[in-house]
Amino acid sequence: MPVITCIEDLKRLHKAHTPRMFYDYAESGSYTEQTFRENTTDFAQIRLRQKVAVDMSGRTLASDMVGLPVTMPVGLAPVGLTGMQRADGEIKAARAAEKFGVPFCLSTMSICSIEDVAAHTEKPFMFQLYVMKDQEFLEGIIGRAKAAGCSALVLTLDLQILGQRHKDLKNGLSAPPKLTPSSIADLATRWGWGLEMLRTKRRFFGNIVGHAKGVTDTANLSSWTAEQFDPQLDWTKIARIRDLWGGKLILKGILDAEDARIAADFGADAIVVSNHGGRQLDGALSSIRVLPEIVAAVGDQVEIHLDSGIRSGQDVLKALALGAHATWIGRAFIHGLGAMGEKGVTTALEVIRKELDTTMALCGERDIRHVGRHNVMVPANWATDYA
Ligand SMILES: Cc1cc2nc3c(=O)[nH]c(=O)nc-3n(C[C@H](O)[C@H](O)[C@H](O)COP(=O)(O)O)c2cc1C
Repeated sequence: MPVITCIEDLKRLHKAHTPRMFYDYAESGSYTEQTFRENTTDFAQIRLRQKVAVDMSGRTLASDMVGLPVTMPVGLAPVGLTGMQRADGEIKAARAAEKFGVPFCLSTMSICSIEDVAAHTEKPFMFQLYVMKDQEFLEGIIGRAKAAGCSALVLTLDLQILGQRHKDLKNGLSAPPKLTPSSIADLATRWGWGLEMLRTKRRFFGNIVGHAKGVTDTANLSSWTAEQFDPQLDWTKIARIRDLWGGKLILKGILDAEDARIAADFGADAIVVSNHGGRQLDGALSSIRVLPEIVAAVGDQVEIHLDSGIRSGQDVLKALALGAHATWIGRAFIHGLGAMGEKGVTTALEVIRKELDTTMALCGERDIRHVGRHNVMVPANWATDYA
């Protein structure tokens, strides 16, 4: 077994183990991928302020997210088709998260269903909702998340229409993969993945097939998805969903201070500053770059989370220093899952925990909740470059 020292190591193993269409699905952004790239390169522009001769014993990374205790403020973000990166992927990731003490959020577009993940885990997980036009399905899935005891509803606001990822079209992305000469040639070199996949029955969109009218197989699922995401989603509809749900509500995909103000006034329990990992509006600023403006606008009103571009504990610390209360990771845990299943997700979390702890100590902090703007240096033009 190779020695894993960083998320990049897991990414290499993920690539080697996984059929190309699913690796590419994870490791790409929309259109020119500018926003996808800048999500990570902007983190690299922020520098850390070293402090010495400070007692660094008794350190703690423990915090909370929407009132729930966490061993570190890093959740596993909702990722569609996780169960195609590894057989039973959502169950594996949820189990790794619960053992580690961080939240797992199940995507609407997951392979394992809400009920299936609930049956294979002990602690409540969060559920991410895409708003569909089909009212019966929408009310049904909210009811199912409630019945499964989900701890929060994460409502994604930045994907009512799909940004194009060129590779997905070229690879003919589907779940399960359609057999074409090129996909067969690719699958033949990924036999470890294929054997696991043959042994599981979870190969379709578990939250949808059998629950949405007229969807019995994936052949008509893609057209159903394109037709069903509700392009009329607005704050009136969001209020209706909040009332139907009645529990903790996190609004995901906020990238603008004015939208953040509306979300805060609306009474969300938290907002996630996110550009969907660079998969939607190509040309949007990175999440970390817009974070300070959003913190200045609503930091005292609503809990602010951030995702998009986090690949290390250093990145987590930078986000917290700029005012995020907590963070979420997408690809960083997917690389772990694709590389080594549940153990790989645990490894990804361990890598990030160790980096975060060491970085915090070298910045002269002992409690993650005390990390702040004093710990980082940001380029002078950071806020004024784009107006
Ligand atoms: C392969 C993939 C699938 C995703 N699917 C969903 C999804 O179903 N629902 C959702 O709200 N966000 C989805 N996201 C976005 C993530 O929740 C998260 O915002 C993003 O991955 C964060 O960026 P990072 O990957 O750089 O950490 C997806 C991201 C990836 C990479």
